Amino acid sequence: MKRMVFLLALVCTAAGFGVLQAAAPDSPSGTPQYSGDNHLLRPENYREWIYLSSGMNMNYGPAASDHDMFTNVFVPQWAYQAFLKSGKWPDKTIFVVEERGAESKGSINKQGHYQSTDLMGIGVEVKDEGRFPDKWAYFNFGSDTKSAQAAPKGACWRCHEDHAAVEHTFVQFYPTLKPVAQKFGTYRQEREKVE
Ligand code: HEC
Repeated sequence: MKRMVFLLALVCTAAGFGVLQAAAPDSPSGTPQYSGDNHLLRPENYREWIYLSSGMNMNYGPAASDHDMFTNVFVPQWAYQAFLKSGKWPDKTIFVVEERGAESKGSINKQGHYQSTDLMGIGVEVKDEGRFPDKWAYFNFGSDTKSAQAAPKGACWRCHEDHAAVEHTFVQFYPTLKPVAQKFGTYRQEREKVE
C-alpha cells in the first residue's frame, strides 16, 4: 500500500510538471537572443512555432532559379496571438523563413513536389525597436551557422520596406493572417498590385 501511495505521488508530480512545462512561454528562443557583439543567435526551435505559409519557387527578380525550392515561414505563438488581437506585430517579434529543396521522384509520387530533408538555410527577421535604428533587422544563416550579424539595408530591409503589406511582413502571401490585418485596417491593399 505504501508503495502504491508513493507511486501515485510520483505520477502526480510528473503530471504536474508536464502541465507547468506546457504552460511555459516559448522563450528564450521565441524572442531574439543576441551574443555580446549584437550578433543574433540562431533560433533553434522555430519548427515548434506557428506555421504561416509556404512559397514554392518564389522569385522576385527577372532571373529564374535553376533549382526548385520551398520557403516555409514561422512566427512564435506569443507574437501570433498578439497579431490576432491587433493586426500588428509586437516589439521583439521574430520570423523565420526556412529554405528547403524540392523533390519530385520518390516513393509513390507521380506528379508535383514535396519538401526534402535538405535544409538550405534560414532567413531571420526581427522587429527590435530599441536595438536597431531602422526597427527591423535581417539575418542570414546557412544550414550550420550558429550566429549572424545584421545584413546591410539594401540586401533585405529595402525590399521588405517597399513591398510588404503589413509593416515589414509579406502578409499578402499568408492566407490566414491577411483577413485579420484587413479587419484591423493594417493591411496595405496596394501592395497586392502585380508588378
Ligand atoms: C526582393 C524582395 C526581398 C528581399 C531582397 C528579401 N526578401 Fe524576405 N521576403 C520576401 C517575400 C516576397 C517574402 C514572402 C515569402 C513567402 O511567402 O514564402 C519574404 C519573407 C521573408 C520572411 C518571413 C516573414 C515576412 O517578412 O513575411 C523573412 C524572415 C525574410 N523574408 C527574411 C529575409 C532576409 C533575411 C533577407 C535578406 C537576406 C530577405 N528576406 C530579403 C521578399 C524579399
